Amino acid sequence: MLHISENSMVALQEVKNDLSGKFYWKFSSPNLEGSTFHLLNINGKLLRPTLVFVGAESVGLNSLKFVNLAIAIEYLHISSLIHDDIVDKDDVRRGIETVHKKYGIENAILAGDALIARAVALSSVYGESVVKRIAEAAFQMCDGESMDFCTQRRKVAMNLDNYMDIARKKTASLISTSISIAAISEKMGENLTSRLTRAGELLGIAFQVRDDVINSVGSVELGKRPGNDDKKFNRPNIVSVFENEGENKKDAVEKAISLMSSHVKDAIQELSEFEKINYIKKIIAAYFSEEDLRKYL
Ligand code: IPE
Ligand code: IPE
Ligand code: MG
Ligand code: MG
Repeated sequence: MLHISENSMVALQEVKNDLSGKFYWKFSSPNLEGSTFHLLNINGKLLRPTLVFVGAESVGLNSLKFVNLAIAIEYLHISSLIHDDIVDKDDVRRGIETVHKKYGIENAILAGDALIARAVALSSVYGESVVKRIAEAAFQMCDGESMDFCTQRRKVAMNLDNYMDIARKKTASLISTSISIAAISEKMGENLTSRLTRAGELLGIAFQVRDDVINSVGSVELGKRPGNDDKKFNRPNIVSVFENEGENKKDAVEKAISLMSSHVKDAIQELSEFEKINYIKKIIAAYFSEEDLRKYL
């Protein structure tokens, strides 16, 4: 994962401590607590909270001020994972059973909704522009997930244009929101926030492409079910997109890796004027290293 500054490390530790703790959760239902906390109890990579802090640092803000905002975004992310696993009919997430597999679809839908509600409450303290931006990301995620499902049902074609639209909406919207949200909250100006947004969008697409490449070889590394399920269920996957264009699997994977790298390069270029996070650019490049990705193949 990204190795961030000492101060942001402290902020990230606070996120870890508070994710399933401090905030006021009071359940009457015997079902909702277990289903809501199922994934909260297992930390993922915490990429989005990390990006909230990187984005704060990049414009000279103190990450510690944005801990609750980072938690709100992680809640929204986890709700999207719970609902995505229902849409994708997946059984494994973060190395354990998916919420709907363990608790049933009804409880999983409600757990996702409960997390969205908490995300709204936590982010509201940071002001109207923050809530608007997070709500817009949530809408984009729904639209992207629905397009993804339409692809699975062959109502939408799996071509490069649709793939990019889906990846931008279902994944990049929240990643770009994460990296720009501290700047938005502090009204740091259009130039900085739009550069961060654009860099986040490019990184988000690169992230989805990388995830797809690993899924396409059926690796268990991501804590998901082994096997090439994307292909089996006709889910949009960048490797399948290039195969549909006539490439053999090996070339399709290589094209996907190039697409990831070009997006990362453009993201780093977009971040060029953010001198305070020069170290992060190297770390981003390392995270998306082609050599490391090829180890999965
Ligand atoms: C998974 O996101 C969903 C995608 C956008 C591909 P992450 O890979 O960030 O999931 P966690 O939070 O680490 O489990
Ligand atoms: C993840 O999409 C996007 C969201 C959770 C909104 P995918 O279906 O491609 O991701 P994984 O492979 O299940 O993590
Ligand atoms: Mg999925
Ligand atoms: Mg999906």
